Amino acid sequence: WTLGGDDDDLAGALSGPVRVRVPAKINLHLGVGPLRSDGYHELHTVYHAISVYDEVTARAGDTLSLTMQGEGVGELELDDSNLVIRAAHALAATAKVPAHARLHLRKTIPLAGGLAGGSADAAATLVALDALWGTGLGRDELARVAATLGSDVPFLLYGGTALGTGHGEAVSPVLARANRWHWVVAFADGGLSTPQVYGELDRMRAAGTAPAPLNSSDDLLSALRQRDPAVLGAALGNDLQAAALSLRPALADTLDVGDKAGALASLVSGSGPTCVFLARDEAHGADLAQALRESGLCRGVQQAYGAVHGARIG
Ligand code: C5P
Repeated sequence: WTLGGDDDDLAGALSGPVRVRVPAKINLHLGVGPLRSDGYHELHTVYHAISVYDEVTARAGDTLSLTMQGEGVGELELDDSNLVIRAAHALAATAKVPAHARLHLRKTIPLAGGLAGGSADAAATLVALDALWGTGLGRDELARVAATLGSDVPFLLYGGTALGTGHGEAVSPVLARANRWHWVVAFADGGLSTPQVYGELDRMRAAGTAPAPLNSSDDLLSALRQRDPAVLGAALGNDLQAAALSLRPALADTLDVGDKAGALASLVSGSGPTCVFLARDEAHGADLAQALRESGLCRGVQQAYGAVHGARIG
């Protein structure tokens, strides 16, 4: 794993601009355990970074400022609640430097979509400011700061395919064969609140209406070691899917379109409402994407592949 591009980039303070590209994540396996006393659920998950990207550009400045373009303009607050600003303050506090930078965010990952877009932006900010400020924190130290910002942020520093445990913040790489997996990503109108989706799963489990929880990720991990997308498709699973469908029943129609069009698997990404579909290859992905567009059920449809690198300069 490399972090932030070449080591040279991390050697000293740069005058900027530093541009960092960061991917979205999906969960190939999302096993949700019991609710812990700290409000998080114990997870066993397999993260997978896909080729849908946000970009953070950092320039030297006299104060801390943030501008943005793309997905979520006018909806996403650019104040201290924004994960980009929070990441800047967290890194500055750790490195004991003033939190001064001009940051610009270019988003294509939808807000509250189940693709960890906000977490991706936080990870990109850490990598960009580590270079701009010359703080030279190692990968593991950056990951520690990342974990204070959100469960998915450490993974987005690394990318690839990785096992996540704890509440998702403890990541270790999956040494999968170098294989490219082809996905179709279907964006929905509006978002879903992650805490609400977890809460709905708790409610369904208490009421006895939730499906049986996933077993360990062993089958998924062994499927990743093979090259057959049909084997991978059969091993994908998401405990949050039933809860997302309960809150947004129309997503079942989107999943149906994928199934009928021959997707090897159709599933909700993370807490949703984005849905992802596994294709045999790129051409099959194009057919699936076409069927999903023609259904008129999705706000947008994009082909993607994985696994890709995490937050990186350039
Ligand atoms: O870690 P992050 O801030 O992204 O999590 C957002 C919310 O999602 C948490 O406050 C919690 O309600 C829920 N969550 C959870 N269990 C996890 C991760 C997130 O319940 N493992």
